[in-house]
Order: sequence, then structure tokens, then C-alpha cells
Amino acid sequence: MKDRIRQIIEEVKEYRAGSEYDAEAFRIKYLGKKGLLNDLFADFKSVLAEDRKETGQLLNDLKSLLQKRVDQFKAGFKSQEASSASFSDLSLPVDFQETGSRHPVSIVLNKMIEVFNKLGFPVAEDREIEDDWHNFTALNFPLDHPARDMQDTFFIETNPDIALRTHTSSVQIRYMEKHKPPLRAIFPGRVYRNEAISARAHCLFHQVEGLYVDKNVSFADLKQTLLYFAQEMFDANTKIRLRPSFFPFTEPSAEMDISCNICGGKGCNICKYTGWVEILGCGMVDPAVLENCNIDSKEYTGFAFGIGVERMALLLYQINDLRLFFENDLRFLKQFRSVV
Ligand code: PHE
Repeated sequence: MKDRIRQIIEEVKEYRAGSEYDAEAFRIKYLGKKGLLNDLFADFKSVLAEDRKETGQLLNDLKSLLQKRVDQFKAGFKSQEASSASFSDLSLPVDFQETGSRHPVSIVLNKMIEVFNKLGFPVAEDREIEDDWHNFTALNFPLDHPARDMQDTFFIETNPDIALRTHTSSVQIRYMEKHKPPLRAIFPGRVYRNEAISARAHCLFHQVEGLYVDKNVSFADLKQTLLYFAQEMFDANTKIRLRPSFFPFTEPSAEMDISCNICGGKGCNICKYTGWVEILGCGMVDPAVLENCNIDSKEYTGFAFGIGVERMALLLYQINDLRLFFENDLRFLKQFRSVV
């Protein structure tokens, strides 16, 4: 019996399964209920006492060898199956490559730029890390004046003269230092304020600043420019309303509301049942600001405005939480494919 087992062990070691079918036949032949192994265990009962130990050992060796071979065959066919599927089945559909989409803030910003380009305002940009002169002092924020508290500022710890710009109005100064009137441009960009983040406020957002300086520029020009802008961005029936306000760098100053684009002015929760929503700050450039940039304020006048881009996007897309713009959740972002 011992020789018989040794012979089977050799057979099993040499056997190669050519197919999955062969492997299964092998398993049934040796490990099946009526297979060889069970037969051998049945015969084991008649083995003489002195041979029992050695024969038992051989039988156990055979059993674990068989189990190992069956497992090897199975694993081999499985991996072959996987690799042949990915290489050779040309009828399978290809992987879907998702195309990207523009960020809603970019879509709205591009549209704003387009509208102002049509009115002859080219785009200019400048730095986000500003000094006190360009962000505040040249814009008529007196030192120690409470107006500086209007915007909570991120200062650089080692140098309180340097800060992240709190508005794009700083680019008005940069632009007027480099260009002499007549001048007209818009300045889009990021601005930073030290604010607690909530659905309605963020420490980072975008503005589009506008500036026009020439002889005889009047408040009527400002109003007409902004009316055109509002009707291009929303629809031709959009109305505007200017309310007196205060900014250190404009005089007179105003805030502009548009008739609520959601309810058409009838009153809803977006406009808090007033029919109007605020979209920007504006005014006539203060003569002192022109003088700070060496522009003769007796000869020239100008207007300026600053529009919040996220604010426009909230209204255009009826989104109720500013934070969504900065979380970069693709499920949110990919909804905005079309230009407004
Ligand atoms: N800089 C102002 C703000 O951030 C907006 C503004 C710009 C107002 C230009 C008047 C003129 O609130």
C-alpha cells in the first residue's frame, strides 16, 4: 500500500490541468466522494499495526498535496480569465471619460467680462498682496478712521503695512498710477476678508471693479452703464435702484439693487419680500483719490463700482449657500455647464 501511495503522489505532482474542465475532473477523481483518496482511507483499516504510522503519514501527505494542487489550478484559471477579458474582448464598451466643466464662478465672471467688454471696458489685473497705501490710504481711508473697520483685514504678521487685499478697489490706484485719462477698465480678482465662514459670508471671494475717468463723466453715465449691465446679466425687464451709501473713495456713493430675478419683484424669500436684491457698491471717484494718483480733479471726473461675483452667481443659479463654491464637490460643480 505504501508504494501505491508513493506512486500516486508522483502522478499528482506531475499532472498539469490543461483546462478548467480537466481540473474539475482531477478533483473528482482524487478528492470526490467516490474518489481515490476515500478508497485509500477505507483500505487503511486493513493495514497492519506496525505499518500504520508510516502509511497514515503518507496518506496525510497525499491529502494535503491534492488540496494544494486543486487550489493552484483554480487560482490559475481565475487569473487567466481576468487577463484574457481585459485584453481580448473588443466588444466590451470602453471606459467613460468624464469631461470637465467650468466652475460656476468662472462662468459668471466670464459673462460679466463679456458684457463690460462690449461697453469698451478692457480687463486689467494686479496683485492680491497689497500695501496699506493701495488698499486703504490712497483710497481715502484716513489712518485710525473707523472706515478701516468696514473690512476685516488679513495682515502679514511681520509687517502690518502688507495685507491681502480686501477689495479690488486697490487696482483702481494701481491702474491710475500707470495710465492717464481718458481711462476705462474692469479689474476682476480675488479678495480676502477675515470673516467667520457661513452661508452668507466667506474669507475669500471675487469682485469685478470698474473704473471710468474722463472729462465730464457724470452719475448719469454710471447709472446707464449699470442698467445695461444688469439687463444683460439677468433679463431685459430687470430694473435697478440706487440707494445712498458710504465708501471713503467715492462721493456720492450708492449701493445698487436689482428687481428680484426670482420673483420678478413680487416678493419671495430670496429678496426677503422686498422685491429688490443688492448686487454692488458704486459712486463718483472722490477728487482726493484722483489727486493721490496725480490726476487733476478739476479737469477730470470718474465713476467706479465693485460687484461681488459669488453674489451674482447665487442669484443667477438660485444657490443658497456661498460655501458650496469653495468645497469643490464635483456633484455640485458639474451642474453648471451652460453659460447663463
Ligand atoms: N470696494 C467696495 C467694497 O468692496 C465696493 C466699491 C467699489 C464701492 C467701487 C464703490 C466703488 O465693498
